[in-house]
Amino acid sequence: MPSRKKLIIGNWKMNFNTHDASIYLHRLQEAITERRDVQVIVAPTTLTLQSLSLQVNRRKVKLAAQNFYWRDFGPYTGETSATQLRGIVDYGLVGHSERRYLFHEQEKDIRYKVQAAVRNGFKPILCVGETRAERTNKETHAVLYDQLTASLANITSDEVGNVIIAYEPVWAIGTGDNAKSSDVVKAGSVIRRTLRNLYGDKVSKDVQIVYGGSVTSSSATDYLSIPGIDGLLVGGASLQLYEFSEIIKKAHDMQK
Ligand code: PGA
Repeated sequence: MPSRKKLIIGNWKMNFNTHDASIYLHRLQEAITERRDVQVIVAPTTLTLQSLSLQVNRRKVKLAAQNFYWRDFGPYTGETSATQLRGIVDYGLVGHSERRYLFHEQEKDIRYKVQAAVRNGFKPILCVGETRAERTNKETHAVLYDQLTASLANITSDEVGNVIIAYEPVWAIGTGDNAKSSDVVKAGSVIRRTLRNLYGDKVSKDVQIVYGGSVTSSSATDYLSIPGIDGLLVGGASLQLYEFSEIIKKAHDMQK
């Protein structure tokens, strides 16, 4: 069976102004060729999305929002809604640990955001993962189960194929302490099993699962070769064009 398309997602976080983001995108598009086996996605800051959407070659790169609000319009100072991002992005990160822990995003917000993305025609990339303390207390399984169950509560089995799950152990994000392949294998099977319980066997197989947390071009292949892992969510390494292009190249090479 041919393997599925790999997703390589660059999360730029709060980096690059409009000018630098545009130059980076231009260079990235020059560095990569159009691939049917790899989907490249970048998540720039909200400020730059509009202009990048006019520049992006969607056959090579798709855009993701890093965050958005779940209500469509109204008196919500400082927020940008999924409705306002419609047509600009193809994906949106939801429940990233920096949003959960630094900005106190609750399960309820995450659940509504997953639903708002689907309602507005883009795919939510739902981030789940345990903290270091939860890992030490052997709670990883329970945390993943609880986060998935809560976040997907408003998503039907017809819709769940549009949701991408990112396993992002909090202790591995931005620390250089990337998860071992065996950790990702275990977490991946907990996620798949939970999806199967919620939606049944067939539908759960369609959901793409990616790994994120201190991924570099040296560790990319190990994760991408895990059965059932469909890609990578890359933070720090996605800010360096050479590193990010190498990761994309590795994803492509393994599909040959
Ligand atoms: P990192 O970030 O690759 O810098 O660890 C990953 C993420 O936050 O999605």
